[in-house]
Amino acid sequence: MSRSPSPAEAVHDAERSRQWLTGQAHGAGVDRARLLELGAAMAAVTAAAAEREPVAVAPAPVGVDPGTPIAKPLPAALLRPLDTNAEMRWSAMAGQGYVVPNDRFFVRNHTVTPHLDPTTWRLRLFGDGLRGAPTRDAPVEFGLDDLRRLPAEEGAALLECAGNGRRFFAEQQDQPAPGVAWGLGGVGVARWRGVRLGTVLRLAGLRDEAVDVMPEGLDPHYVTGGVDLGPVRRPLPVAKALDDVLLAYEMNGEPLPADHGFPVRVVVPGWIGISSIKWVGPVEVSTTPLFSPWNTQFYRLFGPGHPADGTVLGAQPVKSAFELAWDARVPAGEDVLLRGRSWSGNGPIERVEVDTGDGWRPADLVGADRGGPWQRWTARWRPPAAGRHVLRARATDRTGAGQPDRAAPNDLAYLFDAVVAHPVTAC
Ligand code: MTE
Repeated sequence: MSRSPSPAEAVHDAERSRQWLTGQAHGAGVDRARLLELGAAMAAVTAAAAEREPVAVAPAPVGVDPGTPIAKPLPAALLRPLDTNAEMRWSAMAGQGYVVPNDRFFVRNHTVTPHLDPTTWRLRLFGDGLRGAPTRDAPVEFGLDDLRRLPAEEGAALLECAGNGRRFFAEQQDQPAPGVAWGLGGVGVARWRGVRLGTVLRLAGLRDEAVDVMPEGLDPHYVTGGVDLGPVRRPLPVAKALDDVLLAYEMNGEPLPADHGFPVRVVVPGWIGISSIKWVGPVEVSTTPLFSPWNTQFYRLFGPGHPADGTVLGAQPVKSAFELAWDARVPAGEDVLLRGRSWSGNGPIERVEVDTGDGWRPADLVGADRGGPWQRWTARWRPPAAGRHVLRARATDRTGAGQPDRAAPNDLAYLFDAVVAHPVTAC
């Protein structure tokens, strides 16, 4: 799957936000005045608090067990639970191949994983961007078997939560980091198999005049600050939808697991994780711009240096992680092969350096990964003496963007890109 330049995402969102604020965009089911009120409150950082609140869930659809937000087992060696979410432990990637196995792939749920019946599930396309302007109640429908009969495509793509790395704002920079306290494990690469969204849109009767496509999730409505924001959803411009977006029904060679969107999810390569709507059901196709709270209210940068209504969150910055437990034990005086991975929303990684205590030196890149969504690397190290040591890794992507010593703060603690100081003990 090719990567598309993420700046296009920021440009699209900025344009939609402007249109929404001037009344030129619409979004089904949400009252704009109410959202504006909510937006004003959020600009004062209550968005962050809201994200921490226990999530109030609208009446659960059939098949939802509100007691267990995540369906798969969460063994402590593989995943760290964080409210309705779970992050991958980097130590669980040691010795793994290019992709993250499904049992340890991170889960980001706004509410809970629904259990949908694949025999009755339908993709339901509607809106005036399709010929005949089918309505939400009488949409163009595709069952799972219909999608499986269409030409399939498979490729590796990276998903990353925009708050990945957030906890290091507090731990390394002593700055408030409200919201889900992700370490570096809110990221993963999988091989996704499915049908191109563009193929389905064309079969459904896409009109030349269509501008936006908005997939909606079938998980419970997201309720925050006393407002029911409706189903999780986020618009895409038609150009992106026709480019490399996939309706995926397989992940790493298996049917999509429940937590990752069974039976079908959207995969939007290169864009922040929220664009890749899980458990997709309705898809609106519109000749007028669409908006949702997930591109106008959430996933924006607030705080010093940003306007009152925030700056649209653009490409994910460069990050690097060691495939090691936090405070891992390593043998003193013996050769250790350090392994890790680096990635960037701007495109492939060009260079990685590590510092094991005596200055920066180049890491060895795994040649097979060059140009892919993330880059594995190794570095040899002989811990000189027993005791505590700190490991650091930093990467540079093809745009020349690297990793600073300190990340730029913002109220909702997004886009942490600084070098992470990873402690280990030699003994
Ligand atoms: N889609 C729905 N319907 N509901 C959600 O809560 N979370 C989004 C996105 N799609 C979400 C969703 C976010 S914020 C991210 S980062 C990715 O799914 C995470 O995908 P994963 O849980 O498969 O890792």
